[in-house]
Amino acid sequence: MIQMPPHRSLPVLSGATRHLRVLHLEHSQIDHRLTLAHLRHGRVEAQALRLESKAAFLRALAQDWDVVLSDYVLPGFSGMQALELLKASGKLIPFILISNEIGEDEAVAAMRNGASDCLLKSNLDRLVPALLRAIEAAETQRARRHADEELARSQQRLRELAHHLQINVEAERVAIAREIHDDVGGSLTAVKFDLAWIARHANIPVVAERALQALETVTQAIEASQRIMHNLRPAILEQGLVAALQWMTQRFEKRNGIATHFSSFGVVDTQRWPAGVALTAYRTAQEALTNVSKHAQASRVEVGLTAARGVLSLEVSDNGRGLSQQDLAKDRSYGIRGLHERANMVGGWIDLTSGAGGTTLILSVPLRPGGRNQTFEASRPPADTQLNDPTAWGNV
Ligand SMILES: Nc1ncnc2c1ncn2[C@@H]1O[C@H](COP(=O)(O)OP(=O)(O)OP(=O)(O)O)[C@@H](O)[C@H]1O
Ligand SMILES: [Mg+2]
Repeated sequence: MIQMPPHRSLPVLSGATRHLRVLHLEHSQIDHRLTLAHLRHGRVEAQALRLESKAAFLRALAQDWDVVLSDYVLPGFSGMQALELLKASGKLIPFILISNEIGEDEAVAAMRNGASDCLLKSNLDRLVPALLRAIEAAETQRARRHADEELARSQQRLRELAHHLQINVEAERVAIAREIHDDVGGSLTAVKFDLAWIARHANIPVVAERALQALETVTQAIEASQRIMHNLRPAILEQGLVAALQWMTQRFEKRNGIATHFSSFGVVDTQRWPAGVALTAYRTAQEALTNVSKHAQASRVEVGLTAARGVLSLEVSDNGRGLSQQDLAKDRSYGIRGLHERANMVGGWIDLTSGAGGTTLILSVPLRPGGRNQTFEASRPPADTQLNDPTAWGNV
């Protein structure tokens, strides 16, 4: 016979009678009555169902119970099997083994398997306190599970919101870029034509000189709007991701004075990539390079684009100061978090490694044609409204 572990202080058996739904796996009618008597004695009014077969137990599990009490040995069935079935049902109902004789090993195994308690039939005085404690523990567990599920649901909603926002931001960028192209770009180009004409036809030298100065100003304005447009919606993407990244890295080097090397390998057939992949790679490179200029204090950056074995990899490595977990946990930093979301939207992922030698960010995306990401479709303008190459206007 085993010595049961000592219990912590017993829950208060308040004066009020508790009404509980008790499922009792018990072969002996006498033992069942005895158990109910103990419950009554401890002010527990049980709405009890006694059963002893596996089939009856499985049927009964469809209903709600506050506790399952079970004998260790049943005809053709056992308490341990019942415990397994209860666990498999996913229901958080406390399970108490009550047996004539249960060895220490069996009791330990049962507790490890999720039994709330093991009692001896010869010591049923402990039944009510054990039962109330088990019910309390199950309630706590249920509350925790509920909180976990709520948290998971809210995280899912947040992810969906982030996706939605990103799609809207892209769509908005396209719309603004198109307006700059059509309205601002068109007008500036017209002014540039006129100024060029005036400069050519002006008979008064001072007028011709003024016209040339104005032409220079307009040319700068055209360049600025082209730059803004490129940043908003890289029309150069229509010429291919490789060209777009080449353009981006060259501009980055020129603007920041950081030696920037771009290489690509095996990037072909980009038209057949799943929707959104090229834009995701482009935006990832954009954010990674912005981070290098803002935080890394680097003197060199390598940007590599590789498509091999059906996976696209974009790698941005710098030789800067590196980053820490605290950097990534900053409350108001959204760049890298956004990259994870973006990658996720096209079925990809981001790896970030950092050390004394600098930081490396890698985006990997499986390239299955017609793959997971349909979400970016919404951000694409219809083919006939896609931006023309911005470099096409302003060339007089
Ligand atoms: N290449 C890098 N080298 C060193 N530190 C970096 C690098 N990239 C990011 N960090 C660190 O990680 C932090 C988080 O970067 P993240 O891009 O998420 O946010 P952020 O750049 O601070 O703000 P934003 O939301 O505008 O992107 C940065 O604040 C910086 O401390
Ligand atoms: Mg950033």
